[in-house]
Amino acid sequence: MKLQITPTNREIQLAENDIIVSKTDLTGRITYANRTFMRIANFSERELLSQQHNIIRHPDMPRGAFRLLWDTLKNGQEFFAYVKNMTSEGDYYWVFANITPDLDSDGKVVGYFSVRRKPKASAIQAIVPVYQQMLDVERKAGPADAPLASVRFLQDTLGRQGTTYDRFILGLQSV
Ligand SMILES: Cc1cc2nc3c(=O)[nH]c(=O)nc-3n(C[C@H](O)[C@H](O)[C@H](O)COP(=O)(O)O)c2cc1C
Repeated sequence: MKLQITPTNREIQLAENDIIVSKTDLTGRITYANRTFMRIANFSERELLSQQHNIIRHPDMPRGAFRLLWDTLKNGQEFFAYVKNMTSEGDYYWVFANITPDLDSDGKVVGYFSVRRKPKASAIQAIVPVYQQMLDVERKAGPADAPLASVRFLQDTLGRQGTTYDRFILGLQSV
């Protein structure tokens, strides 16, 4: 069950060498968390294992970002994103995340695997207004249509700029 945590305005910064790792089953239930994940998110292993990964979801994240994540994973592809997450105390921390399907020895998808590190400050500055616009689109679309409307808005906006989601996201981290 998702805990009710009130967000604060306090930011937790990752160190340059912090790598947050987690694994989930096919439904997004956490099956592995490394120590850095536990330390930054301020949850014990017992509190994280078997929980849905939305246990650290921050309300400032647009639903469209997660729709795109799941659509990409279900397509068998890896996904990159800047994600604002929430600790057990409501503090927030930004990560640059890579999420990939986790394959068994027969190449069958058995879950998902995520590695996150400190994002560039300039990347967060660029992504915050994009997420705000996606949240606006979601509010106007209403709960049922919000994720799709938001993904369409993002893809249309990037398309008009002559880029794609992956090029945009990876470009922000490399400049
Ligand atoms: C491997 C993996 C890692 C994930 N990591 C995060 C994460 O760090 N933060 C997050 O909010 N959601 C993460 N998600 C997505 C969540 O499963 C979920 O879709 C998202 O939090 C939205 O939840 P909600 O639709 O219940 O609000 C991850 C999913 C997978 C498969």
